[in-house]
Amino acid sequence: MKLPPIQVAVLEAASADEPTDIDDLAAQLEEKPETVTGAAFALEEAGLLSVTDRTETQVSLTEEGATYATDGLPEVRLYEAAIEAGAADEPVPMGEVLGAAALDGPAVDIALSNFARKGYGSIDSGQLSATPEADPADDEEAQALKRLAAGESLAEESLRDRLASRNLIEVTERTRRAVTLTEAGVTELMAGVEATERVDRLTPAHLQSGEWEAVTFAEYNVEAAAETPTPGKRHVLRQTAKRVKEVLVGMGFQEMAGPHVDADFWINDCLFMPQDHPARTHWDRFALENPRRIDELPEDLLERVERAHREGVGEDGEGYHSPWSRDFAAELALRGHTTSLSARYLSGEQVGELEPPQRYFSVEKAYRNDTLDATHLLEFFQIEGWVMAEDLTVRDLMGTFREFYSQFGITDLQFKPTYNPYTEPSFELFGRHPETDELIEIGNSGIFRPEMLEPLGVEADVMAWGLALERLLMLITGFEDIRDVHGTLVDLDFLRGVEVEY
Ligand code: PHE
Repeated sequence: MKLPPIQVAVLEAASADEPTDIDDLAAQLEEKPETVTGAAFALEEAGLLSVTDRTETQVSLTEEGATYATDGLPEVRLYEAAIEAGAADEPVPMGEVLGAAALDGPAVDIALSNFARKGYGSIDSGQLSATPEADPADDEEAQALKRLAAGESLAEESLRDRLASRNLIEVTERTRRAVTLTEAGVTELMAGVEATERVDRLTPAHLQSGEWEAVTFAEYNVEAAAETPTPGKRHVLRQTAKRVKEVLVGMGFQEMAGPHVDADFWINDCLFMPQDHPARTHWDRFALENPRRIDELPEDLLERVERAHREGVGEDGEGYHSPWSRDFAAELALRGHTTSLSARYLSGEQVGELEPPQRYFSVEKAYRNDTLDATHLLEFFQIEGWVMAEDLTVRDLMGTFREFYSQFGITDLQFKPTYNPYTEPSFELFGRHPETDELIEIGNSGIFRPEMLEPLGVEADVMAWGLALERLLMLITGFEDIRDVHGTLVDLDFLRGVEVEY
């Protein structure tokens, strides 16, 4: 007969003559008691074993009981002192006897009540008389305590009850399960039992040979810690960029595209940024060496932009009165913001002249020669956008932001006036970080100035913004250091575990 290995082991360890305790069996086989019990029941079902339960009572001495087992019961000590004091002949003052027996505290009451109960004597008006024929050597309770202290058992139920009610012993019960071989079990053992093969998976071979019926499957440990799969997935920043695009398209925007490396003309000059502006020096710029300049710039536009820089626009316009060179305008650099795309689109350069109303956006990288820290990187994603329409106000700008950020569950927005050479008025946008509760800057915005729009040939109003995608993600997920999501120091656990609900 073939049986699972554990059943074979239990069968072989069991005896037909006397029950074998399952816990002992488990210890002997180095298996868990549950495993052995399971095997025992399976064998019982097969008629090879019988499983029996019995309740075992365990009696142990309490601390007080253990003390009396060595020092003697208080009532016995009282009786012995009473005999010594001659209380068998005539009453003796109780205090005297208690003193002689060295009894005090709670032991006094215990001694006195049990003294009378057991017929060791009586107390009358403070006088103690002892029963001459009483024999403390016969005290059942004292004897029982001694036996228990010596590790013997205590079967007499009434005595157990009495000692338990005096709180001298503790009685506990537990069920012991035992197995005994049946006749059929003995017969099978004699005929020989073999362990079936233990496998952890079923193979085609098992199916073909019919062996599948006999094999034992290794148990699954459903509590074992499973390996966490970390498959490749879209970076959370890219996921967010995708969502931003969906939201903006949903709000009626079209996407802009354009070069990462661009002429300073598109990056700065078209935005009425003076050529001696600090942000345009080589410190903030990633300039290109080869090629150094763009091949072509639209001639008319170039002239109009130059004029705006030198003279300003309108009747009483003022220019910057600072140097302006075409060569510098033609120089190439990694774009420091994606507003270069807005300049290209607004000028008509990218998709031709645009009539209001228009809405455009991009979610693209911008590059700055910043010092790396928790909120600054050399490159980041900018959510660029602009709306061209007649009569735009700051309210339109704020409303657009509220609408956009609410799509990400962000409603606590604050606006702070600021300065940009190309917008008037200008606003910085702040949001509240969910972990630190601090206001963090999440974008910059404004209404483009005539000095910028006139040379570009735009007559309507244009409101525009550049928002940081990383900051938006910070508000959504609560991470605190931008380097956790970008670059060589990324927090892989964060990136693997982060879930965004878009
Ligand atoms: N270019 C600005 C920046 O990089 C953002 C901006 C875009 C501000 C358009 C106003 C208008 O921060």
